[in-house]
Amino acid sequence: MALLKSCKIISSVGAYTPSLGVLPIRASSWWSEVQMGPPDPILGVTEAFKRDTNPKKINLGVGAYRDDQGKPYVLNCVRKAEAQIATKKLDKEYLTIGGLAEFNKACAQLALGPDNEVLKSGRSITVQTISGTGSLRVGANFLSRFHTVAKDVYLPKPSWGNHTPIFRDAGMQLKAYSYYDPKTCGFDFKGALDDILKIPEKSVIMLHACAHNPTGVDPRPEQWKEISALVKKRNLLVFFDMAYQGFASGDIDRDAWAVRYFIEQGHNVVLSQSFAKNMGLYGERVGGFTVVCKDAEEAKRVESQLKILIRPIYSNPPMNGARIASTILNTPELYKEWLVEVKDMATRIIRMREELVGNLKKEGSTLNWQHVTDQIGMFCFTGLKPDQVERLTKEFSVYMTKDGRISMAGVTSGNVGYLAHGIHTVTK
Ligand SMILES: Cc1ncc(COP(=O)(O)O)c(C=O)c1O
Repeated sequence: MALLKSCKIISSVGAYTPSLGVLPIRASSWWSEVQMGPPDPILGVTEAFKRDTNPKKINLGVGAYRDDQGKPYVLNCVRKAEAQIATKKLDKEYLTIGGLAEFNKACAQLALGPDNEVLKSGRSITVQTISGTGSLRVGANFLSRFHTVAKDVYLPKPSWGNHTPIFRDAGMQLKAYSYYDPKTCGFDFKGALDDILKIPEKSVIMLHACAHNPTGVDPRPEQWKEISALVKKRNLLVFFDMAYQGFASGDIDRDAWAVRYFIEQGHNVVLSQSFAKNMGLYGERVGGFTVVCKDAEEAKRVESQLKILIRPIYSNPPMNGARIASTILNTPELYKEWLVEVKDMATRIIRMREELVGNLKKEGSTLNWQHVTDQIGMFCFTGLKPDQVERLTKEFSVYMTKDGRISMAGVTSGNVGYLAHGIHTVTK
């Protein structure tokens, strides 16, 4: 349609005039049918924040770690790894389609634990991906092509906003299971079990491994055990998204517990990992996608198809971030330092949760804020209603998404009192 229209215009304006020759033809629009899309809800919050001139303004929209001065933070182990890499004067040749081998190995070991039987028997395959988002998309494309018995992907209600377009654009169909209970601001365990019981066999179920985004609500180990048993009974394919390993509790093993437990119970899961948050490598785009298979032979076949799938999308992944992550994971002193730094980040966030509740009490709030400290990871689902969020933004220049989610990483010793005052004012 756009093509036909443009041809018509070209023939009418491209006329010959003796004095001017052929008039230059201005390209007509190919895209007149393209509708204006809505702005990204999270980036929109940042835009509004930037325009605000209030010196006390706080941006709690974006999920990126800030130090206690509210500044972006580059980990010391990252700086040291970068320095080590620079001295080696490495080349910039293409990586292979599946990425940096030593990164992939270390990435899988971090998630599964170095002694995992799956790794020892070679019955898994890990490819380097363009952070967590790229990993999810490679996974979604893989499912769309090869998990032909079922196209439905069940997401927790709510889930990370990008899950829906990632799976939808890959040709999967989105469904949901109960997860968050607004009455308790906690996990709706019964609702989740009731819904999972009804999921048709062989469907895909998405599970956030830890630090559920956006709610900050994770199942407890005994609840994970029941979920695992039920998922097995329903014969569902588990897709774990682990974007926050180490960032939730400060302990990489504790945060990977659910993934490891499910594998131990015989689930051949697929897994997305991101190093954006736990290594602060946001813009470097480092991640991994792992498929746990029946045996090593199946893993080889899956690997061959992952390569065929990746090659026409981006050919091979970028090397810089993978080199940094790999250097940290494979150098004992840097690895040790990283564990301390992840713990420090997680601990600061946990402390801010406590201080926020303490300050709310000091303000005189009689509401129950226990969910703020019960929830885990970067985000807190405050329970604030859209009109309260609007007031907080208008009257206090505190910016967050309309669902009441705040990034705890944006809370500091310097602004927590002001934030508590604002929240108390709009909720009393
Ligand atoms: C649940 C979840 N999955 C995946 C990602 C992927 O992030 P990235 O692509 O930056 O690694 C995020 C980031 O916010 C997330 O919260």
